[in-house]
Amino acid sequence: MLKFLGFFVVILLECSGFSINQRNNVCKKLEYYYIRDISPDCWYDPDVTATAYELAKNHGYKLDNYETVTEDGYILTVFRVSPKTKHCKGIVYLQHPAASSASIWLDLGNQSLAFLLADRGYDVWLGNFRGTTYSRKHTKLKPRERKYWDFSFHEMAMYDLPAMLHLVSKKTDFRDKIIYVGHSVGTTTAFIYASLLPANASAYVKTFIFWSPVTFPRHVKSIPLIIMAPFADFILVTINVYLLNSHQFPINTLIAGPDPHFSPARLPITIYQNFAGFSLKSTVHYLQLMRDKGRFQRFNYGKVKNKKLYGSVKPPFYPLKNINVSMTLMYGGNDYCAVKKDVLYTYNNRLPKSVRCGIFEIAPYNHFDFHYATDVKDLVYQKTIDIIDRVINGTYVEMCVAD
Ligand SMILES: *[C@@H]1O[C@H](CO)[C@@H](O)[C@H](O)[C@H]1NC(C)=O
Ligand SMILES: *[C@@H]1O[C@H](CO)[C@@H](O)[C@H](O)[C@H]1NC(C)=O
Ligand SMILES: *[C@@H]1O[C@H](CO)[C@@H](O)[C@H](O)[C@H]1NC(C)=O
Repeated sequence: MLKFLGFFVVILLECSGFSINQRNNVCKKLEYYYIRDISPDCWYDPDVTATAYELAKNHGYKLDNYETVTEDGYILTVFRVSPKTKHCKGIVYLQHPAASSASIWLDLGNQSLAFLLADRGYDVWLGNFRGTTYSRKHTKLKPRERKYWDFSFHEMAMYDLPAMLHLVSKKTDFRDKIIYVGHSVGTTTAFIYASLLPANASAYVKTFIFWSPVTFPRHVKSIPLIIMAPFADFILVTINVYLLNSHQFPINTLIAGPDPHFSPARLPITIYQNFAGFSLKSTVHYLQLMRDKGRFQRFNYGKVKNKKLYGSVKPPFYPLKNINVSMTLMYGGNDYCAVKKDVLYTYNNRLPKSVRCGIFEIAPYNHFDFHYATDVKDLVYQKTIDIIDRVINGTYVEMCVAD
């Protein structure tokens, strides 16, 4: 009778979805994933499959969401970590890398950069580029239409950033200029935006802080990388690490065991939260930059269409010399996407002297470590927060402090 009852209870739990929804999804070591349902070293982490709103809620924060429509009809969602006090120290805007969404700033639990900044009294806003999970709407087009995806990071720079930064400024009554923190494609787009719309950028943005800045990908040498790199940061790093760099995340972790910069328990959330959508055209545009070494330029449609669109056979350069907003760069010493040599070249040879606020190497980091290394809080977040504090309290590089 008892046995029967036990069986019945299990069936009931299964049917109610209890054990299906709350199965162990995180393990201490990779080999435990094979036996995750029965291993005592595995557990259920509700953050793995959470939405951005749930990620915030799970850790005692609330996300407000706002919508804005770009000039070309894309409807974008901008998040704000709901401020707990009325007075704020400054406005910080975080812009996600390729293939992820704003949830990448929220998925380290209460150690997430967005929450750390909110705790320190900043008004924190998070952008979501077109085509990603929370910004997949358009006034006329449907995401299943090919035309919807006819954009590269050029359009994200020219339409999405002005729309989202305007929204943030409007909602904060144009009280302060924005401190912009971007990673990867969040930097490429900002370089383009600040080059082609310098007056707009200097109206909204106080200073840019960039992680893994990508502009002139000249020194990416590996053939597989050249082929694969632009597909997504995630794939890039996986391949890159596997082929070129024998001691990092995650393929190599699968083969060689734990790695000082990566925790196996972070694998599921890393994977789940980082397939948010990236257009093929952006991918191809990055590929073109690699192929046409040294030209940071608009999309190359071929001679005939280039001539028609741009008035020249070759696509025009992005004029970094026009940039009129200060910039601080942080790059990983082991990054094969934002390669050190290329980052230094951009900083020393292409950015106007008057906007250079500093450049920092995060020594052993690759492209993805900026979000998922075990020591990211100490090496990157703390440094970023320190710079932001100094911009606000007037002790950072002179031209980079808040007025
Ligand atoms: C952050 O989360 C950890 C683990 O969930 C918890 O032990 C710690 O108390 C939390 N810290 C704060 C300040 O809430
Ligand atoms: C650059 O920005 C400042 C304000 O930050 C403005 O006063 C100046 O006119 C701008 N210069 C150019 C060339 O746009
Ligand atoms: C400014 O902020 C930095 C970083 O938090 C801090 O170390 C420094 O003491 C502050 N300086 C002043 C004058 O408040």
